[in-house]
Amino acid sequence: MLDSKLTKTVRWGILGPGRIAEAFARDLVRVEGCVLRGVASRDAGRARDFAARHGSETAYGSYADLLADGAVDIVYVATPHAFHAEQIRMCLEAGKAVLCEKPVTVSPEALRPLIALAEERKLFFMEGLWSRFFPAWQQARRWIEAGRIGTPRHLTASFGFRGPRDPGNRLLNPALGGGALWDVGIYTLAFATSMLGTQVEETAVMARFGETGVDEDASIMIRFADGAVAQLFCSVSTQTKHGATVEGDGGRIVFPPDFWRPESVELITPESTDERCFLDTPPGFQLEIAHVRDALRDRLLQSPVIPLAESLLWQEMIYPWVKT
Ligand SMILES: NC(=O)c1ccc[n+]([C@@H]2O[C@H](COP(=O)([O-])OP(=O)(O)OC[C@H]3O[C@@H](n4cnc5c(N)ncnc54)[C@H](OP(=O)(O)O)[C@@H]3O)[C@@H](O)[C@H]2O)c1
Repeated sequence: MLDSKLTKTVRWGILGPGRIAEAFARDLVRVEGCVLRGVASRDAGRARDFAARHGSETAYGSYADLLADGAVDIVYVATPHAFHAEQIRMCLEAGKAVLCEKPVTVSPEALRPLIALAEERKLFFMEGLWSRFFPAWQQARRWIEAGRIGTPRHLTASFGFRGPRDPGNRLLNPALGGGALWDVGIYTLAFATSMLGTQVEETAVMARFGETGVDEDASIMIRFADGAVAQLFCSVSTQTKHGATVEGDGGRIVFPPDFWRPESVELITPESTDERCFLDTPPGFQLEIAHVRDALRDRLLQSPVIPLAESLLWQEMIYPWVKT
């Protein structure tokens, strides 16, 4: 539960010390007012090694032990998607706030009761989608709101990479929530709703399903209530360019690769006075972590930057199109 100590230091626990947790922990220690209180793995040795690398105060060989640690304020859930719902529930029931990696769950039915539980327990709960915090996304949004590109009409974004071909890998394994839509398609959706808003009228997906049954390549089309349209592409079989654009009847905004962790963004108008916004620090988790720290200190139960209603919208947009 939140207590007065949170005005000083937010004490984090990490559940699932894998690939992304490494990057998260590296950045966590650089954020003022945050400490890594504990890390939990199913394997005690893995937790100990991770704790030693990142200066964690404790290491636990079970998730339940981390959740029983009264000095943990918030848990960062960093396991494969298929486990998120159950682990978020465990965290909330143990009285912990939760930051869960994207995608927060793999069905809207799984997310709804978790939102209700967090509300009931008065605990902060947020999906971790770091792109939302980069200044270039926020600058682009400000340009759109200020009418700098006129009325937005079209948006494109592409996020594809050639992932491991091992059918057991989480990207291809249906039991682990595999597929491009859940893994990287969600960044393209988050980009679309960041730039064009959440009044989504229709979503359609065409996908190629691979040998394991998951969508390896998918093209997503969205029509927004105001008539703007988006075309998105995602893949776990093929490297794509990772660029993104928003075009209006008065100009356009161009994100060079990688739009999902942009170091710059450009506004191009007929007056041809190009404007650019550059990131002054390398893209990392610091901005997201500082946002969560501030939200906890302000006693917020949801993030105004990634509200749970929008997380639910992304779930509703993707879920009908995945087979597994
Ligand atoms: N924000 C980003 O840029 C970003 C980038 C990559 C991934 N992600 C997200 O982060 C999450 C984790 O991805 P990752 O690539 O870091 O995962 P990972 O390294 O494959 O696994 C992370 C941890 O999850 C547990 N785990 C792995 N496979 C498991 C299995 N078969 N059964 C039960 N537990 C298992 C393990 O915890 P134990 O140590 O307890 O065994 C492992 O240490 C995903 O939801 C992904 O979408 C985000």
